[in-house]
Amino acid sequence: MMRPALLVLATLQCLTLPALLPVAVAAGGNATAASAAPIFLRCGASGVQSDSNNRSWDGDGSSRFAPSVKGVEAAASYQDPSLPSPVPYMAARVFTSNYTYSFPVSAGRMFLRLYFYPVAYGSYAASAAYFGVTANDLILLDKFNSSQTALASTFAYIVREFSVNVTSGSLDLTFAPSPPSSSSGQNNGTYAFVNGIEIVPTPDIFTTPTPSLVDGGDPNPFPLDPSWGFQMMYRLNVGGNMISPQDDSGFFRSWENDSPYIYGAAFGVNFGKDDNVTINYTIMAPVDVYATARSMGPNAQINLNYNLTWILPVDPGFTYLLRFHFCEIQYPITKVNQRSFFIYINNQTAQAQMDVIVWSGGIGRTTYTDYVVVVPASSDQQDMWVALHPDLSSKPEYFDAILNGLEVFKIQDNARKNLAGPNPPLPPPSPGLNPSAGRSGGRKQKATVPAIIGGAVGAIAVLVIASFGVFIICRRKKKVAKDSDKSEDERWTPLPDFSKSASATNTNTTGSQSTLPSNLCRHFSFAEIQAATNNFDKASLLGRGGFGNVFLGEIEDGTKVAIKRGNPLSEQGVHEFQNEIEMLSKLRHRHLVSLIGYCEDKNEMILVYDYMAHGTLREHLYNTKNSPLSWKQRLEICIGAARGLHYLHTGASQNIIHRDVKTTNILLDEKWVAKVSDFGLSKTGPNVDDTHVSTVVKGSFGYLDPEYFRRQQLTEKSDVYSFGVVLFEVLCARSALSPTLPKEQVSLADWALHCQKKGVLGEIIDPRLQGKIAPQCFVKFAETAEKCVADHSIDRPSMGDVLWNLEFALQLQESTDDSSSLTEGTSSGMSPLVLTRLQSDEPSTDTTTTTTTTTTTSMTDRSIATVESDGLTPSIIFSQLMTPDGR
Ligand SMILES: *[C@@H]1O[C@H](CO)[C@@H](O)[C@H](O)[C@H]1NC(C)=O
Ligand SMILES: *[C@@H]1O[C@H](CO)[C@@H](O)[C@H](O)[C@H]1NC(C)=O
Ligand SMILES: *[C@@H]1O[C@H](CO)[C@@H](O)[C@H](O)[C@H]1NC(C)=O
Ligand SMILES: *[C@@H]1O[C@H](CO)[C@@H](O)[C@H](O)[C@H]1NC(C)=O
Ligand SMILES: *[C@@H]1O[C@H](CO)[C@@H](O)[C@H](O)[C@H]1NC(C)=O
Ligand SMILES: *[C@@H]1O[C@H](CO)[C@@H](O)[C@H](O)[C@H]1NC(C)=O
Ligand SMILES: *[C@@H]1O[C@H](CO)[C@@H](O)[C@H](O)[C@H]1NC(C)=O
Ligand SMILES: *[C@@H]1O[C@H](CO)[C@@H](O)[C@H](O)[C@H]1NC(C)=O
Ligand SMILES: *[C@@H]1O[C@H](CO)[C@@H](O)[C@H](O)[C@H]1NC(C)=O
Repeated sequence: MMRPALLVLATLQCLTLPALLPVAVAAGGNATAASAAPIFLRCGASGVQSDSNNRSWDGDGSSRFAPSVKGVEAAASYQDPSLPSPVPYMAARVFTSNYTYSFPVSAGRMFLRLYFYPVAYGSYAASAAYFGVTANDLILLDKFNSSQTALASTFAYIVREFSVNVTSGSLDLTFAPSPPSSSSGQNNGTYAFVNGIEIVPTPDIFTTPTPSLVDGGDPNPFPLDPSWGFQMMYRLNVGGNMISPQDDSGFFRSWENDSPYIYGAAFGVNFGKDDNVTINYTIMAPVDVYATARSMGPNAQINLNYNLTWILPVDPGFTYLLRFHFCEIQYPITKVNQRSFFIYINNQTAQAQMDVIVWSGGIGRTTYTDYVVVVPASSDQQDMWVALHPDLSSKPEYFDAILNGLEVFKIQDNARKNLAGPNPPLPPPSPGLNPSAGRSGGRKQKATVPAIIGGAVGAIAVLVIASFGVFIICRRKKKVAKDSDKSEDERWTPLPDFSKSASATNTNTTGSQSTLPSNLCRHFSFAEIQAATNNFDKASLLGRGGFGNVFLGEIEDGTKVAIKRGNPLSEQGVHEFQNEIEMLSKLRHRHLVSLIGYCEDKNEMILVYDYMAHGTLREHLYNTKNSPLSWKQRLEICIGAARGLHYLHTGASQNIIHRDVKTTNILLDEKWVAKVSDFGLSKTGPNVDDTHVSTVVKGSFGYLDPEYFRRQQLTEKSDVYSFGVVLFEVLCARSALSPTLPKEQVSLADWALHCQKKGVLGEIIDPRLQGKIAPQCFVKFAETAEKCVADHSIDRPSMGDVLWNLEFALQLQESTDDSSSLTEGTSSGMSPLVLTRLQSDEPSTDTTTTTTTTTTTSMTDRSIATVESDGLTPSIIFSQLMTPDGR
């Protein structure tokens, strides 16, 4: 009965800021002016030269950033063929004593990239360089030996990328030769060197949204302090080719192919996007990262028997941020619950039921999720395990997983202000390891990835893949329009960042990172609340609820908020109030009203929420002067609310039953995005041993689950019932209970159900909708609402199914509105993607049909819009869409 705990708090985001193309400030050549432009400095050289990416590198011998540079200008003794270009590698600045470069920069976050090419420079032997590097106060490297590091990594050269937040106007980079150690002579004649320094300003692309900590228990939010520094450990274009710095819209990140890190021989399948899928640029990653992906493969049975695993060696004793980039890029994956999978990090579940469509909002839309994992101290490097595996708990259509990109960042050890790890151990001497045999990208050989277990499974997978003729669809290298960056992703917005306020209240954040702020919520003082509401001015009263009065307020940064002041006479105890804050602060979803903070000074119980400019859904349906909502708007609002409820039921660490779903608890923000509210008084649902929660009857008449009355048992299906009433309310624009009407019409649920069964529901719909609803859409919608209000909870669909059906209804409406899209068979080229459905053979209690056969099917080019909706459930639709592929 136990479902894997999951807290989607983790992070989702389609942060699409305009590409921050750096603007030069120092136009007049003012040597002291702060620079917001990237800086490329080649060290130990004079004059400007371009690299293979056509970036101009200024020699430090003549640069304004190193006015009186000391040290030796040295030329490399040997040019490794794997070097991408001679600049900046073939010259180095050698320091035998400390030296500090001082870069005037605008305060903020920036990438700092250090280039090291460890070969002999004149009389300076490569292996003798041992040194430390600090950036302002932060230790970046300590007793660093680039020669050993390069040998261990099998690269001929090393680029270390850091992200630092400079709060003053200057980035001071100090190179300090490590003092000779007394115990051994190895540091005799030690020196420091550097070939190139690159500084690229960026926005804060690290700290929002708040990642969750993966530690085996329920995921906890782990806020990242905006002042922390990070070291990039891995940046992988999963399933795609290397992306070089100039293809990354101004941030100059490089993305490596992931296959060297795959564990064993189970590589899955890599593929590129369908031609008719467009991906919008976001600053989080270049479009090409999202345009390719790796999935587990076409055979469900094989997928169930292996984990698609990457092994990434990391330094011990640090905390790491892992960012997974996702985008569904091939048809037919366009719908919720087609592909659902687990993400494991170090053998712990980081995420269950990862459904890219849910997170991103649709095919071609990008999203990413962030997790934090602590790698314990140890004397050796540690392998970080990242694995994907299908999650069958929601009975997805395909038993598969997908990943488009993966980034791993080391987070600074805050206590020591340190990012430096030990030098990696040297690989065992291997006869094949010829230091000059480079491949492109500088990787010579990947000797460290184990390839033992999983090999058999992988081999089978490869065979199966081959026998179906499915093959890698290579990434078509296209020039991506760099100006398509304005995409405002409509479906998801960044989560609010509360880490600042959290650290403001936790003033002693100087301890180690293991002291987690216990929630994401801001604590307001009573004075702040008074100021925000003009001392609870009656003029700012928005409404009265069971809990108390609700005021409109404005907090200091100008954000409008709704402030709920608990009635001191309310039955709610302080303990319950605190529990709720604890629970609510962990629930973050685009379709839930967010709790921003609370105030408990002076025995007050005050909750501060997002302010919803358009009020409640009901205010736009009936008894109102507001202009009527269009049918499509209503559908979108229902879909949003269904998403919020679906998240409450399945997405949080505990299943949460709302208990009071109604049109006045569905709020609309200024963009008409629906948000479910008032789940604060909800009860967490069945967890381990209980399948229901018995409570005193709560909820609103007209919406109450009849089974709840009979058995005093509350399940998620009680919310589904209430949501069915909401659907009828939206369709008919009348209240759930109208005592003045004839007896049989008093209850909307009963009356609408009666009309639906008689086939005359169309006669009682909102007259303003007459003729506006596409017939197929109407059928689908009515059928969904009807199932929701089924008398027995077992006959009601899950919220996930409701969501699916409503989205389908919307598609049917849109395809009618835009009837040109009804033309069938536009593409004759069949997608080479072959997908398999395998379904559980146990009888299903929900509306999903099950079959016991495993069929391999391939997509026809039939448009979904032409499928008849009558009586269809997701699975049936898909079996109609697919024709069995002979095998
Ligand atoms: C250079 O910039 C600094 C700081 O922005 C300013 O104080 C100084 O006057 C400038 N000098 C010239 C010559 O523009
Ligand atoms: C390199 O940049 C220069 C101007 O900075 C431009 O004229 C040239 O065409 C560029 N070369 C390539 C190969 O992009
Ligand atoms: C050089 O820098 C290191 C580390 O920053 C410091 O410990 C050392 O004292 C410095 N040496 C001198 C001579 O300033
Ligand atoms: C380094 O070692 C050599 C002999 O191996 C010795 O002559 C020299 O003095 C040592 N230098 C330092 C700085 O210890
Ligand atoms: C840099 O750190 C300061 C202080 O913690 C913070 O206020 C600021 O937002 C940070 N800037 C970025 C871009 O993260
Ligand atoms: C994960 O499990 C595998 C065996 O299944 C084990 O070899 C590996 O060390 C584990 N990784 C971690 C980080 O615990
Ligand atoms: C996949 O990884 C998880 C977490 O380490 C583990 O529990 C599970 O047994 C693995 N499954 C397979 C098939 O290897
Ligand atoms: C891309 O951006 C455009 C313009 O902002 C928008 O209309 C379109 O829906 C976006 N497409 C996707 C797949 O997000
Ligand atoms: C896009 O192309 C795929 C095949 O490559 C096809 O299955 C799908 O229906 C097409 N979708 C649209 C919206 O044109």
